[in-house]
Order: sequence, then C-alpha cells, then structure tokens
Amino acid sequence: MNPTLELLYNRKSVRAYEDRPISAAARGEIIKAAMRAPTAGGLMLYSIIEVDDAQAKARLAVTCDHQPFIATAPMVLLFVADYQRWYDYFMACGVEEYCQRRGTAMRGPEEGDLFLACCDALIAAQTAVIAAESLGIGSCYIGDIMENYEIHRELFDLPRYTFPICLVCFGYPTSQQAQRKLTERFDRRFIVFQDRYRRLSGRETEEMFQAMHARAFAAEERPGGPANVGQLVYEHKFGADFALEMNRSVRAILAAWAKQ
Ligand SMILES: Cc1cc2nc3c(=O)[nH]c(=O)nc-3n(C[C@H](O)[C@H](O)[C@H](O)COP(=O)(O)O)c2cc1C
Repeated sequence: MNPTLELLYNRKSVRAYEDRPISAAARGEIIKAAMRAPTAGGLMLYSIIEVDDAQAKARLAVTCDHQPFIATAPMVLLFVADYQRWYDYFMACGVEEYCQRRGTAMRGPEEGDLFLACCDALIAAQTAVIAAESLGIGSCYIGDIMENYEIHRELFDLPRYTFPICLVCFGYPTSQQAQRKLTERFDRRFIVFQDRYRRLSGRETEEMFQAMHARAFAAEERPGGPANVGQLVYEHKFGADFALEMNRSVRAILAAWAKQ
C-alpha cells in the first residue's frame, strides 16, 4: 500500500496529547499544506487563527460544550469562513460605484457565498489534519465551535462576514491514544450510490445499523432509556442541548449575514 493511503486509512481522532510542544517548523508545514488546499476560484475564502493564548483555550474548553481536552492541546487552529476580506477589498476597489455606473446594485455576501467559504475553510482544515498526521501529530475537530457565536465573535474579534466553521486541536498522541482501535464506518453499499441518490429500504436501514446497535447495546441494559440507535443518537446528539444551541447560534450568524 502506498504511504498516503496507509496514512488515510489509519487516521483517527486524537483527544489526549503528550505534554510535548509542536515545533515552529512543524506548525509551519501544517499551515503551508493547509494553504495549498483547493480553494474556490483561487480566492482563499478563509482565515486561520492560531489560538495560542492559554486563557482563550480554557474558555473554548467550556464554550465548545465542555470538552476539557481543548485546553490541553499544544496547537489549536480556528478555521474561519471569510468573505469579510474580499468584501472590504471590493469596497476599497470602488465596486459599489462601478456597479452604479453599470446600472446594478452591488450585493453583499449572502448564504451561497457563506457555504462556499465554509467549503474552503473545511478543505483547508482537513488538509492541515492530514499534514499533521504525516508528521506524527494527531488531531481532533471541534464542531461545537459553531455554538455560542456571540462569545466566540467577541473572543476572536470576528467581523460580520465571517463564520467560525471548525476548530481543530493538534498534539502528539499519548501511547494509549496511539494504540486505540480505529472507529467503525458504515458499509460502503449504504453510503456510495451509482449515478443517482437511492433511499434505503426498511430492510437495508435495519442492516445498516445492525453492527452499531450490537456495539452500543452490548455492554449495558438501558431500562426506560433508548431502545435502538435512532433513539440513542437522537437523545445524545441530534436532540441534545448542544445541538439546540448550535442551531440557535448558526441562525444568529445567518441573520447577521443576511441583514440588509
Ligand atoms: C465536523 C466534525 C465535528 C467534530 N466535533 C467533535 C467534537 O466537538 N468533539 C470531539 O471529541 N470530536 C469531534 N469530532 C470527531 C468525531 O467524533 C470523529 O471524527 C468520529 O467519531 C470518527 O472517529 P475517528 O475520527 O477517530 O475516525 C468531529 C468531527 C467532525 C468531522
């Protein structure tokens, strides 16, 4: 197997780190690789904030749904979808007057622009993850950065046309983490379709979740609690408080973008 595929097949999220700093050289390589990621229109619609301040990390460990390991990560990068930089440049370039002269109204960044910028930021983030992995540095995404928008906006001075789409923690894995088994994935036939989308039948859906059900319900009885994976995931993920907060927070970000 070639070394790139080997790296991709063996990556796993790392949430416990050795007390060992990441050198400036390694940080530089990770960020250099991230900036080589594909980017829509070549515009680089993202910013990367290196979060080095210990107090800020400690705050994030609370505001991102109470995940203490964030505070212990030797390197934390915040990937921000960013149309502010281009919008400011449009304004500096006289685009508004240019549009007027041509009889059109200049528009500001909208939802589609935001999604495109999120694609850019996430692809850069995943490229950083893989670059880090190649250097023996583990990582973990923190999706909960989308919660508590008002707090994070203030913490990082985020202007209107930005969106903190993901936080990534980096660090050398502890030996226990390094030995941890890979997590399972659903079978390919439920995820990859030919030429068009295909809704799964009831039977296929049952098959898809069989292994996950066996793992989740092997160890403990859950009397009165969830009886299957759907109920379990709804309770702990989709319907959980953090998910409700994430949706509130994202609505606030969208409203700020959409405001006339
Ligand atoms: C968008 C995104 C958000 C995530 N958010 C978190 C998080 O907040 N906390 C955490 O511990 N892991 C988080 N993860 C890591 C996933 O839990 C992990 O990728 C998944 O369980 C599969 O495990 P693996 O990465 O080890 O293969 C996130 C992953 C992604 C892609």
